[in-house]
Amino acid sequence: MDEKIARQKAETLPSLLLPWYDKNKRDLPWRENTDPYRVWVSEIMLQQTRVEAAKEHYRRFLRKLPTVQALADCSEDELFKLWEGLGYYSRAKNLHKAAKIVAKEGFPTDAEGWRNLPGIGDYTAGAISSIAFGQPSPAVDGNVVRVLSRLLGDAREQDLLRGEYAKLLAPAYPKERCGDFTQSLMELGATVCLPASPACLTCPLFSLCETKSDALPVRKKKPERRKSDMTLLLFYDNTGAAVCKRREGVLQGTYAFFTAERAMDAEQVASFLQSCGLNGFSIGAPASHRHVFTHLEWDMTAYPVRTEQDLSRLRVPDGTAFPCTDFSDLLYAPVREIEEKYSLPSAYRWCLQVLKKVCNKQ
Ligand code: ADE
Repeated sequence: MDEKIARQKAETLPSLLLPWYDKNKRDLPWRENTDPYRVWVSEIMLQQTRVEAAKEHYRRFLRKLPTVQALADCSEDELFKLWEGLGYYSRAKNLHKAAKIVAKEGFPTDAEGWRNLPGIGDYTAGAISSIAFGQPSPAVDGNVVRVLSRLLGDAREQDLLRGEYAKLLAPAYPKERCGDFTQSLMELGATVCLPASPACLTCPLFSLCETKSDALPVRKKKPERRKSDMTLLLFYDNTGAAVCKRREGVLQGTYAFFTAERAMDAEQVASFLQSCGLNGFSIGAPASHRHVFTHLEWDMTAYPVRTEQDLSRLRVPDGTAFPCTDFSDLLYAPVREIEEKYSLPSAYRWCLQVLKKVCNKQ
């Protein structure tokens, strides 16, 4: 890649992309205005969630927490309930921490200031300060790397390119329309310069593009996902079902069902429960589900377990070779309440259907 040509191409981008963006941009809820709080929340949601999936969550989030002060003051339970379905709960935790800082100190106005808040990296800092504050601060994510590597015919591995493309773009920013320029690059990557089957014939950069296909960027091989077998025990009685609040790990603070990290058949479940001190119970028909995270894959089998016994007195025996939920973390609630009030990550929500079936039969 010739550096001089790359710079010339970067300088041409605003004149080609901005008219295209004005005509073709999607009508998205975070584009109604450039209020820093609204832009910030949208950029955090969009870090790991697709636009279509984020839209409704975003509207609901802003209805419930319309200001940074409201976010700073809300409880973690309320925040996690609003975050349910978006995944990657550490984003919500960092957003909460950062809101407490911003509520006291005010909004940062440049990329450097945003970068110092929890949960904000170069990309998000660049996006917020260009969109909300009109600063010439590039935001280069995977979409933008794809657009530029194709435009420039750059066959280097894409993980190395973000910083370099940010340096290339910074001087090309048009003073009056920094936020729109950032979003025009994102928009092209999301709607035209797609990972597979890009719509090159409608692309405003067609005549300038060195690739005109999906041959670039060069992708790094992804490590394989770690697979785990899990057994979920859905304890229930006349009053409802047992959930536990997670004390650690990435899902800390959200709710789950009793989990043992290994596969068990019904007989093994029965002898496990007996070894924990449970006597009167009946085990219902199991249901299975696979949940795929970015780096993990869970193969889950859930057994409904009806029991009237007090679970808080049970103990997982010392020396149990697989990790388990502590019985003392369990609390009972009606299934409808679990569904509506508790933040139950997507990986567990299918269990609600299993519980509704058995509870309705009681
Ligand atoms: N992805 C990340 N930020 C975005 C934005 N502001 N609009 C559309 N897609 C995005």
